[in-house]
Amino acid sequence: MRSLIGILDLSTKEIDDLIRTAQDIIAHPEAYREKCKGKKLATLFFEPSTRTRLSFEAAMYELGGNVLGFSEASSSSVAKGESVADTIRTVNCYADIIAMRHPKEGAPLVASVKSQVPIINAGDGGHNHPTQTLTDLLTIYREKGRLQDLTVGFCGDLKFGRTVHSLIEALSRYSGIRIVLISPDELRLPEYMQNKLSALENVTFTETKDLEEAIPKLDILYMTRVQKERFFNEADYIRLKDSYILTPEKLAEAKEDMSILHPLPRVNEISVEVDDDPRACYFRQALNGKFIRMALMLMLLEIQ
Ligand code: NCD
Repeated sequence: MRSLIGILDLSTKEIDDLIRTAQDIIAHPEAYREKCKGKKLATLFFEPSTRTRLSFEAAMYELGGNVLGFSEASSSSVAKGESVADTIRTVNCYADIIAMRHPKEGAPLVASVKSQVPIINAGDGGHNHPTQTLTDLLTIYREKGRLQDLTVGFCGDLKFGRTVHSLIEALSRYSGIRIVLISPDELRLPEYMQNKLSALENVTFTETKDLEEAIPKLDILYMTRVQKERFFNEADYIRLKDSYILTPEKLAEAKEDMSILHPLPRVNEISVEVDDDPRACYFRQALNGKFIRMALMLMLLEIQ
């Protein structure tokens, strides 16, 4: 029995297999409609979500299975003081696989130790978000046809953005990856991640505060929201929230085939005028999230 807690739990070969399965699902959805008949997914969301929870649920329905769960801690026994371990042991009685989002870093790992069924980390605090990373990798693959030899700019909240942390970890296993970190000083990539990157030979990284300066070199621009809920101090959030706003004017300097990704939700960091630009991939990315989660659940449930 396997869980998915961090993206490095999967080998690059397994990621290739998941991308292949997702593409087959896209091409032949009818072949997958009964694969999870009789199976139940529990979605345990202790933090807000639109795409992650709904794409997991849509994924299970499209595989012919069923879904149960809760979308806020206040509607579960957690509000009465139940521990994560007890919640998981209970849900094990009712579900075959569990997707869990929690504000505390490491909570899904604790859950996986207690669980008899696969646990999927659907986001733990400012730490990791491996299924968003699978979504991002499928999107990059579908847009660019490769996962190597890419210059990828990460812009915005690189400190608290868990999707950034997981995607950087994933990309750092491919060759010819050049990472450009674009953030204000206060929201720089955490030192522990910078140290990991410095130790790698196949990846180079540079840091800048200037999106306009960085944009012409990029093959992928990964925009992120400033993570309001992780700030201790509202004044800091207000000062930093509009650090970067991508507009059609700024895109004028970008490559014609640069892909713009964003895990969403967007607040202000991409102007809606960018949405009609063919380089804007973020809603296609949200759709890819459903297909890759279908592939992932088939893998973890060991269904061919
Ligand atoms: C992200 C998350 O929850 O970390 N959203 C998502 O899952 N698509 C990004 C964010 O909330 O900014």
